[in-house]
Amino acid sequence: MPSRRRFLRVTSLATAGFALAPLAACSGETAPPAAPAPSPAPARAGALMTRTIPSTGDTVPAIGAGTSGSYEVALDSPDFTRLQETVRVFFDGGATLFDTSPNYTNADEVLGALLAAGGWRDRCFLATKIAADDRAAMEAQWAESRRRLQTDHVELLQVHNLRALDIAWPYAQQLKEARATKYIGLTHYLESGHAPLVAAMRALRPDFVQVNYSVNAPQAARTVLPVAQELGIAVLVNRAFDDGKLFARVGDAALPGWAADVGVTSWSQLFLKFAISHPAVTAVIPATGRPDRQADQLRAGTGPLLSEAQQAELVARFA
Ligand SMILES: NC(=O)c1ccc[n+]([C@@H]2O[C@H](COP(=O)([O-])OP(=O)(O)OC[C@H]3O[C@@H](n4cnc5c(N)ncnc54)[C@H](OP(=O)(O)O)[C@@H]3O)[C@@H](O)[C@H]2O)c1
Repeated sequence: MPSRRRFLRVTSLATAGFALAPLAACSGETAPPAAPAPSPAPARAGALMTRTIPSTGDTVPAIGAGTSGSYEVALDSPDFTRLQETVRVFFDGGATLFDTSPNYTNADEVLGALLAAGGWRDRCFLATKIAADDRAAMEAQWAESRRRLQTDHVELLQVHNLRALDIAWPYAQQLKEARATKYIGLTHYLESGHAPLVAAMRALRPDFVQVNYSVNAPQAARTVLPVAQELGIAVLVNRAFDDGKLFARVGDAALPGWAADVGVTSWSQLFLKFAISHPAVTAVIPATGRPDRQADQLRAGTGPLLSEAQQAELVARFA
């Protein structure tokens, strides 16, 4: 896959698992045939940080994107046009990882259309899910996912919320063996899902897990994240903004005095930087349908990470 070849050119830093995405990623080396009109370059303070996927040694940028809600828009609508610009900002900023699901109404169809129109599929680390109750439904869903995403493979196929795991996991393994997906994984988004997720991690040894982790829901640091480190499992973080609710909580409050020391100029950046500052975390996948917010999110993948004291201060503030 071209994107993986590009990842392999990334220069490793001395810190294990950390690297910087090459600025070439922003140079438009693959000219999008039907990209939206140019707009101001995304505000970026430096190269986007990347992380290593333990099961292969491949790397992926630490800031990705989710599609729940924000990509559930009508094709052919002003919202879709705005998403074209959002996705352009995303790829031009050096990001590659998108997470979606057949459960997010038409989000996978919207994402597939955006990737195809922009010529971005080859650059994209595409993650989707199996979310069905029996084998026949899973097979039909996977066929439909490929049609909607306009691709014959994905980079990561995850069992959504551990649903029908005893049926879904063997199917995911079979698809991995058939090279329909490079990686397989498990997801959850609630603290109540952490114990079964940990049990499944120990039993099944997935390549990836996806879990909720945020300043106001930091429990994964005591449950899923240490086990991922112990077993060498990559971690995607969902709900880093608590589905957007954290912005209502902070309102127009000032950032902590030390934010500038870590290159942070917005609450969005701070919430994302909190997530990727845990050493188990491979990437965070915030959702937004707005180009300005997308550019802001990418800045969280640059500059210093938060110290343990800074992370603890945020948890104490939002607990
Ligand atoms: N079980 C699972 O597997 C599971 C569960 C949950 C989530 N996920 C994945 O994780 C991704 C992220 O989780 P999430 O979408 O639930 O929640 P999230 O990323 O915590 O929050 C997304 C929400 O925040 C809003 N937002 C973003 N930036 C903002 C800003 N600067 N100011 C105000 N609002 C802002 C977005 O609205 P705008 O679009 O208007 O910016 C969107 O409504 C999902 O999209 C999905 O891919 C997976």
